[in-house]
Amino acid sequence: MIPKISRVLTLILIATAAIILTGCNKSNEAAPASAPQQKQFVIGMSQCNLGEPWRVHMNADIAAAAAKHPELNVIFKDAQNDTLQQRAQVEEFVSSKVDLIIISPKEAQPLTEPVADAVQAGIPVIVLDRRLLGTNYTCFIGADNKKIGYAAGKWIVNALGGHGNVVELMGLQTSTPGQDRHSGFMAAIAGTDIKVIFSADMQWLEPNARQEMESALSRFDSIDLVYAHNDDGAHGAYLAAKAAGRDKQMKFVGIDALPQEGVAYVQQGILDATFQYPTGGAQAIDTALKILHGEAVPQEITLNTRLFTKDTVTQGGQELP
Ligand code: FRU
Repeated sequence: MIPKISRVLTLILIATAAIILTGCNKSNEAAPASAPQQKQFVIGMSQCNLGEPWRVHMNADIAAAAAKHPELNVIFKDAQNDTLQQRAQVEEFVSSKVDLIIISPKEAQPLTEPVADAVQAGIPVIVLDRRLLGTNYTCFIGADNKKIGYAAGKWIVNALGGHGNVVELMGLQTSTPGQDRHSGFMAAIAGTDIKVIFSADMQWLEPNARQEMESALSRFDSIDLVYAHNDDGAHGAYLAAKAAGRDKQMKFVGIDALPQEGVAYVQQGILDATFQYPTGGAQAIDTALKILHGEAVPQEITLNTRLFTKDTVTQGGQELP
């Protein structure tokens, strides 16, 4: 009897151990297996310069949007307003085989070829703000500069009652926003008595604009308005006019409307109008994600613009139709 009981006990013990072990195994299987590694993407971003506040904003907008997506790693490069450096940056991104390139080019013509080469090498390219020649890129994102120039022209015709002397301080004429803000403006003032009595390429830079405005002031006694292709330019012109004691004799119109710059200038009564030029940073990351996940995107994404004047600034500007 006794051995039989012990045999039974042994069997029960073995069975219990088996149950416990199987149970353990089961609970092991149920333990959360380490999550499959999410695919990581490297984006190369070439910014034409970081000397202008608008461009610092663009990079910050890109960084903030990318930070919401841990699978994205953005490598920022600053071309320091040097076209050759920017060409080299695009070439480096191609040879290091990044997954996607974002470029905000300094000039159209010289950056067209390296971007086309990147596309040819199978790397999608998003072009932000300034255009290239032709359409050899994956997607262009930016506001419509001709439309902004045209709206600025119409606003100026209205503000001057259809006649007056205007100084035009242009953005870099080898970059497309400079060309388009000029041609849009000229189309809007055509057939009116608005005369452009002085115009110069201030290359988007406030110190250049100030210097050009000093020449305009020394040559012309009667200036009714300064149209500058960006707020930095308009502010430079204002400083020159103020130093000459003539700032109250004329109006100042700019473009960009950054909160701490153009919009603040309107609030302070320095600028009479500024047209918002959105950076497109957030849209670039949105679009990059779609491309990286194989979704189709449009080749052109046009961003909206808002007009800020003393009448609309408190309500956050007014969207252009
Ligand atoms: C900054 C900037 C802006 C302007 C944009 C045009 O570099 O000059 O002020 O709106 O570039 O590309």
